Amino acid sequence: MKISYDVIIVGTGIAGLQTALHLPKSLSILVVSKDYAWECNTFYAQGGVAVAVDSEDIALHVKDTLEAGTGHCDSEAVEVLCSNGPLAIQNLIKMGFEFDKDKKGNLLYTKEAAHSQSRILHAGGDATGRHLHLFMMQQLPCPILYNTQVTDLLIDENRCYGVRVFHADKIFNIYAKKVVIASGGVGSLYAYHTNARTISADMQGICLSHHIKLGDMEMMQFHPTAFVLGNAVRKQLLSESLRGEGAKVVDEEGKRFLFDYDERGELASRDIVSRAIFDYKQKHHKEVYLDVSSFPEEHFKQRFPSIYFNMKNIGYDLPMQKIPISPAFHYSMGGIKTNLEGRIVEIEDLYAVGEAANTGVHGANRLASNSLLEGMVFSYRVAQDILKSIDNPKEKKHFSEAEDILIKEGDKELKNELRNLMWSYAGIVREKANLEKALKRVDEMLELSIGKLLKLRLLVSKEIIQSALKRKVSLGAHYMKEEIHT
Ligand code: SIN
Repeated sequence: MKISYDVIIVGTGIAGLQTALHLPKSLSILVVSKDYAWECNTFYAQGGVAVAVDSEDIALHVKDTLEAGTGHCDSEAVEVLCSNGPLAIQNLIKMGFEFDKDKKGNLLYTKEAAHSQSRILHAGGDATGRHLHLFMMQQLPCPILYNTQVTDLLIDENRCYGVRVFHADKIFNIYAKKVVIASGGVGSLYAYHTNARTISADMQGICLSHHIKLGDMEMMQFHPTAFVLGNAVRKQLLSESLRGEGAKVVDEEGKRFLFDYDERGELASRDIVSRAIFDYKQKHHKEVYLDVSSFPEEHFKQRFPSIYFNMKNIGYDLPMQKIPISPAFHYSMGGIKTNLEGRIVEIEDLYAVGEAANTGVHGANRLASNSLLEGMVFSYRVAQDILKSIDNPKEKKHFSEAEDILIKEGDKELKNELRNLMWSYAGIVREKANLEKALKRVDEMLELSIGKLLKLRLLVSKEIIQSALKRKVSLGAHYMKEEIHT
């Protein structure tokens, strides 16, 4: 196998694949995939891609994004996202991608929480991510190295030279002029999450072990409507667009209690709806449901085919039957700190993009369906930035291939304990005493004889907890039950 490339991209979601697609075919590019390429969050995205419907809507899209972000967004990053969005979508359509259209051939836009108007494009009904992923895979001009765990970044004197990987039972180094981290967020740190099983914060942990800064790690987003019963690792997401198109959140008696929490009811922003459901369940000890019975059956099947079939497989007859719901971890606004070109400024030749990155574009709470757009817009900027210096001469370096033991006996139990700890103590509602308990236990686990992969998870969990403790008052998705006043 070739061990030197121009560009290595870690991750096969929209951010990684689009970066590869934006680079010229003359470059040698390797995409590294931890599992099958479709085991990424993009593949499971349901709602769609948020984009301004016309030039006048750009300012409104900016406003909605900033408001959902609760004043914590980087406004320049939001401007970049919303103003470049329409062109990114036009380019995708020009390449041949088909979003859902009405009978006259007009693009269909749906609405999701906290959007002031319908501006979410979708494909295959609720299978937007799957359609996009397949389309990008079909265009991909470069190889993918499957079943490959990145175990380290090859960094010397603040410059990145490649990655160390575990593949086919071997540890070895792969060198590159530029490395792009597009490996997604941190879903597997939480007991209940909607993420692909590969999303376990390894790259964020590797960055921490090299003293690379993460930003906004207290900002973890919980999706209000997931079906969490059963043993599936990835919990079944019930798209925001269901509520955007009329689904109701009700209790056992059919009461639409969300209006007691916010006048926008089902259409309040994601953090508000998640907290309301969590609080209502705790206070009233009642089951909470998503009621989709207002949808005509044929329309439901056509508009939400994935949800229809997935729920049918586990015995739910939709749209007639109500679905028991709970919030679940969904998205990390926090990530590896980058500038607006995706560059990790403290390390030369290293980039992060998509959910792995923290540009500040989502602030304290991501506006629904802004993440696929983020992947498209920022991957283009990363590719452009790479091209500026890809031809510069780069010294060749050789790194040792010695690596710590990745997994040790007992790690699985500790990993599950960590998931429950994070869900209970660093989840939707936080308290100082609980965060401190979590921190103490994470520190204890870090002292144990554990494998490297668990250590990386623990480092990122610790960062989330410490960031939550530092932010003493509630903001967006970071909610402190009792704010800290010392
Ligand atoms: C959804 O379909 O509700 C998810 C959309 C998103 O996470 O942006």
